[in-house]
Amino acid sequence: MKAQFKVHKAVFPVAGLGTRFLPATKASPKEMLAVVDKPLIQYAVEEAYAAGIREMIFVTGRNKRAIEDHFDTAYELEAELVTSGKDELMALLRSIKPDDMDCVYVRQPRALGLGHAVLCAERLVRDEPFAVLLADDLMIGDPPIMQQMTGLFGKHQCSILAVQEVPRNQTNRYGIVKGQAISSDLVNIEGLIEKPHPSVAPSNLAVAGRYILTPAIFDRIREQPRGAGGEIQLTDGIAGLLGNEPVLAYRYHGRRYDCGSKLGLLQASVVLGETHPELGREFAAWLKDRQKLSQAYIEDSLYWRQYDRQ
Ligand code: UTP
Repeated sequence: MKAQFKVHKAVFPVAGLGTRFLPATKASPKEMLAVVDKPLIQYAVEEAYAAGIREMIFVTGRNKRAIEDHFDTAYELEAELVTSGKDELMALLRSIKPDDMDCVYVRQPRALGLGHAVLCAERLVRDEPFAVLLADDLMIGDPPIMQQMTGLFGKHQCSILAVQEVPRNQTNRYGIVKGQAISSDLVNIEGLIEKPHPSVAPSNLAVAGRYILTPAIFDRIREQPRGAGGEIQLTDGIAGLLGNEPVLAYRYHGRRYDCGSKLGLLQASVVLGETHPELGREFAAWLKDRQKLSQAYIEDSLYWRQYDRQ
């Protein structure tokens, strides 16, 4: 790797099948699901942009055209907005892709796993450190999580994974880290296991969907056999880096919503709805009123729902 203190490129793997959201994801990408009024992928791109990253690399697949269209110019819509004098909406549309941001696309021919998706970006990343952002992990932080991480990269010049503590009984849903704490929020990683059973998990520190990786990762992914679930796992590739170069786990400051699951998307919608500049007040008031509704009302609606199903 060239001596380099900044991260210029971000990879967004968006080629997964999104089966947990069927039927919504039958013909449209999971990453285009909206939280309030913005698609998940736009939150992730804005986070990378805030971290000073200007080259966005999307690893796409079948049924993902909507993502390319979202970051492209919408001529007809813009013409309509100009004619009707809707300048604010016009500015909103234009802000989706600032002029100094480049978007490039590469296809993952088959959804063989996250590691494989990252490998598909190799020719575009080349010999540079790069960020990986999973758009279905919606991360909220101040400063944004990727900005916290690029700051750390400037100091440590090595791969960094965002981690968070999870309940012990959920370790089988995540990549889990083993290592030695070197400060209150940094752990020097000694081992990584993909989705371990709680009884064998080395810790409850789970990898979240933000990474900064050195380009050595590409050879490690190429060499590794298929891992958990028969997929080419990114976690296994990162485990392959250990021993050759340092990899740090960073306990990020902020919140994460797993918008790859229905529950996480609903939770994110409520939290971001409550703080939304346009409708936050009204929505928060409505939520408060709703909480006051009696159990009797909920039971009543459950009672009637059984007849709806018949
Ligand atoms: P997930 O495993 O959460 O996404 O991958 P999925 O496979 O699309 O979802 P389900 O489990 O079927 O509902 C995390 C991220 O990695 C991307 C996904 O698009 C998602 O953003 N991914 C996953 C790829 O780009 N390619 C793959 O082969 C697998």
